[in-house]
Amino acid sequence: MINEVINKVLSAKKYENIHPSTVKRTAERILEEDEKISDDEAVKKIKKELYTIHAHYYNGLDYKKALNSFRKNPDNIKNYEHWLRKYDNNRLKSVKNDCYGKIFRITGKPRVILDLACGLNPLTLQWMNLDKNAEYYCYDIEKNMINFLNEYFRIIKMKKCSAFFQDVVSRIPEMKADVAFIFKASTCFEWQKAGNTMKVLNGLKTKYAVISLMMRGEYNLDGCRNYFRKLLGEKYDDSYEVVSEKEYFRILKK
Ligand SMILES: C[S@@+](CC[C@H](N)C(=O)[O-])C[C@H]1O[C@@H](n2cnc3c(N)ncnc32)[C@H](O)[C@@H]1O
Repeated sequence: MINEVINKVLSAKKYENIHPSTVKRTAERILEEDEKISDDEAVKKIKKELYTIHAHYYNGLDYKKALNSFRKNPDNIKNYEHWLRKYDNNRLKSVKNDCYGKIFRITGKPRVILDLACGLNPLTLQWMNLDKNAEYYCYDIEKNMINFLNEYFRIIKMKKCSAFFQDVVSRIPEMKADVAFIFKASTCFEWQKAGNTMKVLNGLKTKYAVISLMMRGEYNLDGCRNYFRKLLGEKYDDSYEVVSEKEYFRILKK
């Protein structure tokens, strides 16, 4: 039964590029929660969850067009700004507000970064001011996006940057690094199962982890701090935060 359910989800056009281990993990949980659920109902529920944790954030950015424009103008920052704005205007505001400078003043300038559940955040590489030989490794669960990112790294000649098609809850990255980014993704991890973010944090071999939340609605400054107090428990430390206009970054020394 479970294999049929997984195959049905992965054969849908919208979900064919999602990592099979994400679909499997979601299917296992949904079937365990309701032993009487029909295959069709389970497929529907899994698709809904995949929409919530992934598809919901993407508005059909044209990868081919973006790559062509990077090839034509690899050094034009305005071009990266244009595509980043299309992806996430608030993230553009954060980077223009020097969020990386502020974060790295606390963590030190990293030589190796892991970007977990990266989405299209690698487009912000232009604002990180890393050394040319810095290493930057990204992870997400959608194959087309990962292919796009690897081609982008090739075009901008960042030889030590790679994107991996990997579900980081099922398989926590083992690489040692200075900093791990978990931007706007802890809510997705917790949505899948409460406690996932701590599981990932505890498994990482990095000196720091930086977790962000968009500031809106109940997540004003106090709301964000409360969210992290609850999430991180005794690992919460008042001194490690960076507040950008619309984004709150919590820094965790591991
Ligand atoms: C709100 S987006 C944030 C993307 C990016 N970090 C940013 O800040 O722009 C959440 C991302 O988490 C990814 N994601 C969700 N669960 C994941 C998992 N278990 N492993 C890897 N990526 C995951 C989704 O595919 C999506 O790209």
